Amino acid sequence: MVGPPGAGKGTQAQILASELSIPKVSTGDIFRANVSGGTELGKKAKQYMDRGDLVPDEVTNAMVKDRLARGDAAAGFLLDGFPRNVAQAGTLRTMLADLDTGLDVVLELRVDEEEVVKRLSGRRSCPECGRVYHVEYDPPKVEGRCDNEGAELYQREDDREETIRHRLEVYREQTAPLVAFYEAEGLLATIAATGPVEEVTARAKAAIEEKT
Ligand code: AP5
Ligand code: ZN
Repeated sequence: MVGPPGAGKGTQAQILASELSIPKVSTGDIFRANVSGGTELGKKAKQYMDRGDLVPDEVTNAMVKDRLARGDAAAGFLLDGFPRNVAQAGTLRTMLADLDTGLDVVLELRVDEEEVVKRLSGRRSCPECGRVYHVEYDPPKVEGRCDNEGAELYQREDDREETIRHRLEVYREQTAPLVAFYEAEGLLATIAATGPVEEVTARAKAAIEEKT
């Protein structure tokens, strides 16, 4: 899944992975779990994440390689937030070839930058189950509490307006070239990521079906 910050990758990945019964591998979620757990990996990643920069490729690639080697990924997986530049895409290709598999489809979520800023400044996340809400567009039943287990929702460190603007720049410069890269490989499916979450999910499912 590829798209700018706030396009709804995490939201859609969670729904699609559960419907397809495959694990969602989100590099952002794995990094955040390591930051809150205070691990060595988390310490390395935090400074980059807080600024809205990419964590260095060697750190990210090694982490994804470990994750994909786990048994639950053998029957398929959904990648959210990886690869994030053309070098990572090259590494991913080698990793998957070693596992005797490959990508079926690359889903691009399109949304304009003003919408992204609105979405990210109202985002709230659950520290327990990872579910993502929006104070206006997708509020929890009880304000500030997760619907699943009642945990207190938090606002991400990198969801401040200046950091959001920087993440958008990083997306334009480093990640957006992947769209042409995967289009050339015939793997790209692009959908509009605006409108209700369920409508975006329906578009995503139709696009995936068409490609696979
Ligand atoms: P990561 O966690 O991947 O952040 P991101 O790409 O910036 O994406 P977001 O999580 O911000 O947005 P999203 O598209 O998932 O949107 P969401 O569904 O939450 O990465 C964070 C950091 O980790 C990076 O900056 C980097 O430092 C590091 N990192 C991660 N991967 C890396 C890699 N491969 N290499 C190097 N570094 C890496 O939705 C956003 C909001 O909108 C929510 O509030 C949601 O409720 C709302 N929303 C969703 N859909 C809709 C809709 N249809 N209508 C209205 N609101 C909606
Ligand atoms: Zn929760």
